[in-house]
Amino acid sequence: MRAWQAIAYGSPVDCLKLRTLPRPIPGPGEVRVRVRAASLNPIDYKLLHGDLRRLTSLRFPVTLGFDASGIVDAVGAGSSRFAVGDNVYFRASRDTLGAFAEFSVQPEAFVALRPANLDAIGAASLPLVALTTVQGLVDRAHAEHGQRILIQAGSGGLGTFAIQYAKQLGLIVETTTSSGNADWVGALGADRVISYDRESVAARGPIYDIVLDSLGGEHTMQAFDVLKPGGVVVSVAGPPDREMARKFGRIPVARLAMWAMARKVYAAANKKHARYFRYLTESNGAQLANIAGLVELKRIHPVIDSVFEFDQALAAFDRLISGRAKGKIVLKLAD
Ligand SMILES: NC(=O)c1ccc[n+]([C@@H]2O[C@H](COP(=O)([O-])OP(=O)(O)OC[C@H]3O[C@@H](n4cnc5c(N)ncnc54)[C@H](OP(=O)(O)O)[C@@H]3O)[C@@H](O)[C@H]2O)c1
Repeated sequence: MRAWQAIAYGSPVDCLKLRTLPRPIPGPGEVRVRVRAASLNPIDYKLLHGDLRRLTSLRFPVTLGFDASGIVDAVGAGSSRFAVGDNVYFRASRDTLGAFAEFSVQPEAFVALRPANLDAIGAASLPLVALTTVQGLVDRAHAEHGQRILIQAGSGGLGTFAIQYAKQLGLIVETTTSSGNADWVGALGADRVISYDRESVAARGPIYDIVLDSLGGEHTMQAFDVLKPGGVVVSVAGPPDREMARKFGRIPVARLAMWAMARKVYAAANKKHARYFRYLTESNGAQLANIAGLVELKRIHPVIDSVFEFDQALAAFDRLISGRAKGKIVLKLAD
C-alpha cells in the first residue's frame, strides 16, 4: 500500500515521503480500514515540524494523519463492533496516527459508522474538529442553552464545525473572521460575525459565557477581557493548563516551564473568577457516532475548502500551512 510517511522533523517537502509499505494487520480489538479520503489538520504539520515534541514525539518513519473515512476490510480477533464492508470514519490517536495511507489499522473504539448521507470526502473532514468541539464545549465548558459563546476563527476547519454545533446546543454564537469570509460564515448560523479587519473583539466588552480560543497568543489573553465574570475559556492553542502540564510535563523542568507559561493566563482567569482549559483532543468512536446522528438529521454539514488527489499531499500541506483555508482540506484516494 502507499502511505505518506514522515522520515524526520522538518518541512513537508523535505520530510514527508510517499512510500510503499506492507498492508498493516489488525490485532485484537482493531479494524483495518481501506481509506477512501483523509483530511488534514494543523496538528499534522505541527507534529512534522516538531512543534509538539515536548508533548508527543514521533518515532520515524511514521505514517501521519488523524482523520479518515473508508470501508472496513479486515477485523482483528475479538473485534465485534464492525464488519467487513462497513462504511466508517475515525480519528486516530497521537499514538496510532496512520490516516494518510491506503489502509489504516485503528482500535475499534476510535471508529464509528460514517454519516449515511455523506460521501467519503465529507465524512473524512469531520472527526478531529468534531471531537475537539464536543470535548471543549460539552465535556469541559458544560455549555448550556442560551449562553453566549465567542468562537475565534469561524472560517477555519474547527470554527466551521464549532459554529454549527454550538447552535445545536442552543448557544448564541459570535465568531471572528476576515471581512471577505463574513457572509458565508454567517450563513453557517452564527448570530454575529465580527470581521477582525474592521471591528475589534475587545469592543464587544465582557459579554461571553464561553470563549473557544483557537488562535492562542494575545488572543488567549484577550479572551478574558471579553469574558463575563465566572465564564470559561476553552483553548486549543493557549499555554498548557495545570492538567495538561501534569500529563505532558514528563520531567519536572518541563512541567515548571509549562506552569510559567500559564501564569499570566491563570492570573487573568483568577481576576474574572473564570475557568481555563487547554486540552488536546482524544479519539472517541462513541462521540463520533453521536455526531453522525446530527449530520444525518442535517443539523450539521461539512465545510470543504479543497480536495487534493492522494499523491498531491504536499500541495495540500501548502494550502494548510497558508492559514487561509475556508473549512477542511481533504485528500481523495482512488476507488
Ligand atoms: N485539541 C487541540 O489541541 C486542537 C484541535 C483542533 C485545532 N487545534 C488548533 O486550532 C487552530 C485552528 O485550527 P483549524 O483547523 O481551524 O485551522 P485552519 O483551518 O488552518 O484555520 C484557518 C482559518 O483561520 C482563520 N484565521 C487566521 N487568523 C485569524 C484571526 N486572527 N482571526 C480570525 N480568524 C483567523 C483564517 O481566516 P481568514 O483567512 O479570514 O483570516 C482561516 O479561515 C490550529 O492552531 C490548530 O492546531 C488544536
